[in-house]
Amino acid sequence: MARTTLTRTILAAVSAAALFTLGACSSDAGTAEPGGGGEPAADDGVITLGFSQVGAESGWRAANTKSIQDTLTEENGFELKFSDAQQKQENQIQAIRSYITQGVDVIAFSPVVETGWDAVLQEAKSAGIPVILTDRAVDSSDETLYESFIGSDFVKEGEMAGEWVVEQYDGEGYKAVELQGTTGAAPAIDRKEGFASAIEGSDIEIIDSQTGNFTRAEGKTVMEGFLNKHDDIDLVFAHNDDMGLGAIEAIEAAGLKPGEDIKIVTIDAVKDGMQALVDGKINYIVECNPLLGPDLAEVAQKVIAGEEVEKRIVVEDQAFDQAAAKEALPTREY
Ligand code: AHR
Repeated sequence: MARTTLTRTILAAVSAAALFTLGACSSDAGTAEPGGGGEPAADDGVITLGFSQVGAESGWRAANTKSIQDTLTEENGFELKFSDAQQKQENQIQAIRSYITQGVDVIAFSPVVETGWDAVLQEAKSAGIPVILTDRAVDSSDETLYESFIGSDFVKEGEMAGEWVVEQYDGEGYKAVELQGTTGAAPAIDRKEGFASAIEGSDIEIIDSQTGNFTRAEGKTVMEGFLNKHDDIDLVFAHNDDMGLGAIEAIEAAGLKPGEDIKIVTIDAVKDGMQALVDGKINYIVECNPLLGPDLAEVAQKVIAGEEVEKRIVVEDQAFDQAAAKEALPTREY
């Protein structure tokens, strides 16, 4: 079931109020050393939550980490153990095993890739520790291995991007290149699928597609390669803002004007991307809301209280053209 903007606003306000009382407080978020031991979770009303984050690959990820660390605070009844997997599945598995050993109350994580989780999730289940997925899904046939998945509909995001491109450019025979996210990651798989299905039947053609691993540096390198290989690129579809921003650097270095000579469509709508849209260097952005902390806190509290939770919580996203970005940017939270 989709969350309403109102619910999200209320949750954000509650969290913000708590934060106001506490002051800037993300520093009390502990760091779990993968493989390290620790005290069993105390039965003191405080929810000990072990969170394994994908990494720090993008502006989106930084905003997502901040939302989690700002919400899962002592003030809000949590002890947060946080680890950064540096975009490596083996690090996430190690961190999850460490949380199981430590006997945390809840484990939450954003899986770097979709597959290969069943064994470690089964270990958490056998230890009686509930698992909540945030941001990205796992590809598993056993839905009992996790309580809930909170995150955006990535296929829809890709479709929204593709629909706008068709609306604007169908009939002009555009040649597009695609900067894919991390290979095997849910947002890379789903956004590719959504975009491809939206442009089907139009005369827009994807002439090249490669992973830029969701980072600005790799987006730039891959775009340089595309520009060396093709002299007829009309459009870039980047699976996130950071890769789009890297592509801008490559396009400018090649003496071309991003947003004019080569159109750019991205996903995320973080501040840097929105600024580039306002500056006319990006043409359209589909949002992916990173503020998942409040929903995670609510679901974790319900799970611990033995209440029923929704198996799938879809976060609503919007999209921005230049005019909408100009309006939204001054008060943009991330
Ligand atoms: O899973 C969400 C994606 O991961 C964001 O779009 C991207 O910026 C991040 O790295």
